[in-house]
Amino acid sequence: MPNPSGLTRPLRLLSTPRAIVAWLAAALILIPLTAVPRSGTATAQGLPYQDPSLPVATRVADLLSRMTLDEKIGQMTQVERSALQSESDIATYRLGSILSGGGSAPPNNTATGWADMYDNYQRIALSTPLGIPIIYGVDAVHGHNNVWGATIFPHNIGLGATRDPELVRRIGAATAEEVAGTGVDWTFAPCLCVARDDRWGRTYESFGEDPEIPTAMTTIVTGFQGPVLGGSPTSILATAKHYIGDGGTTGGVDQGDTRISEAELRAIHLPPFRAAVERGVGSIMISFSSWNGQKVHGHRYLITDVLKGELGFTGFVVSDWGGIDQIDGQPGFTGAEVAQAINAGIDMVMVPYDYRQFISLLRAEVQAGRVSQERINDAVSRILTKKFELGLFERPFTDRTYTSTVGSAEHRALARQAVRQSQVLLKNDGDLLPLPKNIGRIFVAGKNADDIGNQSGGWTISWQGSSGDITPGTTILEGIRATVGSASTVTYNRDGYGIDSSYDVAIAVVGETPYAEGAGDRPNSLSLDSTDLATLSRLQASGVPLVVVLVSGRPLDIASQINSWDALLAAWLPGTEGQGVADVLFGDYNPTGRLPMTWMRSFSQQPINRGDGQTPLFEYGFGLSYSDDEPSPGPTTASPTASVTPSESNTPSTGPTGGPFSCTVNYRVNSQWNDGFVADVSIGVTGAAVNGWELRFTFPGNQRVTNAWNAVVTQTGSQVVARNADHNASIPAGSSTSFGFLGSFSGTNSPPRSASLNGVECRVNT
Ligand code: BGC
Ligand code: BGC
Repeated sequence: MPNPSGLTRPLRLLSTPRAIVAWLAAALILIPLTAVPRSGTATAQGLPYQDPSLPVATRVADLLSRMTLDEKIGQMTQVERSALQSESDIATYRLGSILSGGGSAPPNNTATGWADMYDNYQRIALSTPLGIPIIYGVDAVHGHNNVWGATIFPHNIGLGATRDPELVRRIGAATAEEVAGTGVDWTFAPCLCVARDDRWGRTYESFGEDPEIPTAMTTIVTGFQGPVLGGSPTSILATAKHYIGDGGTTGGVDQGDTRISEAELRAIHLPPFRAAVERGVGSIMISFSSWNGQKVHGHRYLITDVLKGELGFTGFVVSDWGGIDQIDGQPGFTGAEVAQAINAGIDMVMVPYDYRQFISLLRAEVQAGRVSQERINDAVSRILTKKFELGLFERPFTDRTYTSTVGSAEHRALARQAVRQSQVLLKNDGDLLPLPKNIGRIFVAGKNADDIGNQSGGWTISWQGSSGDITPGTTILEGIRATVGSASTVTYNRDGYGIDSSYDVAIAVVGETPYAEGAGDRPNSLSLDSTDLATLSRLQASGVPLVVVLVSGRPLDIASQINSWDALLAAWLPGTEGQGVADVLFGDYNPTGRLPMTWMRSFSQQPINRGDGQTPLFEYGFGLSYSDDEPSPGPTTASPTASVTPSESNTPSTGPTGGPFSCTVNYRVNSQWNDGFVADVSIGVTGAAVNGWELRFTFPGNQRVTNAWNAVVTQTGSQVVARNADHNASIPAGSSTSFGFLGSFSGTNSPPRSASLNGVECRVNT
């Protein structure tokens, strides 16, 4: 029968009168659910929408037909938990969703405390006549980061440096387990922002400045949701955010204005969203920012025409925190703003506070005919579809089997691996690194050396994050201490006092302290602060070889200091598993990270991005390894090309194996404008599997690939070669894979007429 956890768990608690009452209430609520017949026909207790054997579309249509306007509006309403004037408002207003904003945790901020809170809200929602479960959302943006004791993974900028989409998928799956273990159904992640200006305080939420990395990292959507939404008890709904152009604002101003042409918007900011939609992302959050002066929250063309129409997004669109209030630039929201947002295509509104007002305004707009019943029905159907797909009607309560995965050793090991892979070695004079474990006297300093809060950054326990011992983990200093051999000693002084020439090496862990939206914008300078500069000068004065580890949410303006450092490691914001940084410093891991952002030579270069003609300190894609016979592209030497390399290690490692195969290529131009287009290519294989593939075709006209995802694409003349990415290297017999690219063209954009896969001619459908 449905809902075993809801039935069994209260039984164990019947020790107090309050528990008995709670159990009775739960049992009563469960009667309609448990009475659902396994197949078919409606009865008073078993209505079609309650029947899991019916198709989701049938269940949605049935449920919708039973709902009043108020019940529908309730489904479209999302409220911050702390804004609930009374918990019973969940039932009274038939609220569809509750969220925790950054740091909004139950008083008992443990995994169990969250699960208890969730189950309590869910019981209230299920007590309504139709018993529609709520969907609870949180920002699990680098692990389940509001929860004390959760595994905190590196922020996206570090994950972008790994160039490893499969690792990122696994991080999504691990995060989903922790989230599901607290009952929560939905994460407002991933941020698919393409951060174009490092002054922006959300740069670290971006996987990279070029759409290729955010696009490749949409594997995290599959990690969160699983191959099929609701296919397992740990499948949670993902959110691609913030649609669209959040990372492109002029000056890197948070919530600012992205003043670029449509071609550029499509070329830079759209590709990751397209990839997320192809992966079946269940929800998409709208950006606070504007596009050429118009708030995206009210932008019907972008939301309805492009996202839902052209991209074919069938999930639901959620607004950002109070985002509809901003449409008219005045504080508070009006009926006109509500109507504009809903008519633009927003399906669920993150109100998040004044939900009573929102509900009455939307009701009035519908009654006045300014928002149609059809639009409401569409919005509610989209929301209910995801609730059914997630299995919320069958499994409304926390599956406590997963509660203990929060902060588990297994997840921390995965996070440590991610930290190792995210380190980018930028300088290593005289091969100072890796340090021998028995090097002798090691001096460690810097405000980020022994601070879990600082190394985790914003969106950790609280919204803006904070310094200090905010959650369990391993600091970088602790990692160093755990790594060195018995012949070494580690001396630590935060500010660098006490060092002298008797030491063998100094390690300075400096950089930024936590920030998030708004507060993280740095319009004037990206330099090291005076604390760091003072610490560094104390270390330098000793004459001891100096390794600098930079803990920061973005490239910093270090050109005038770097010459006096012997080695430099960009650690980004690694999260709770600081051991991964020490693993790289002492050679337990040979660095593989590559810059996901161009590193400025001076602050005045902002914005600086790959291919813009400016000479940076370190190119996008730069990163050293130890004992490299062939170091990766040197600073400032690589020139931007049409070839797109999501990962250095992406070339097929295995040639075609197995027997003869035949192939079919479907080439589809997905959208096209003046001089640009986006194409999707799928490759189907029959006969034998293909392991490691290379697809070749020739453009018949003047077309150029400018950007690709899920494959490494190079072009010489009109000849195009696409090689598999790491995550789609093998195509099993009878199966297919796909990749996409963005191109420019002049004249006619005709599709290629022929294509070959590993030398075998394929049938081409266009
Ligand atoms: C942020 C979103 C976040 C939401 C909920 C907003 O301020 O822009 O990224 O998902 O708050 O916390
Ligand atoms: C919340 C965040 C939210 C922000 C928006 C904060 O109070 O905690 O989740 O993103 O407000 O301004």
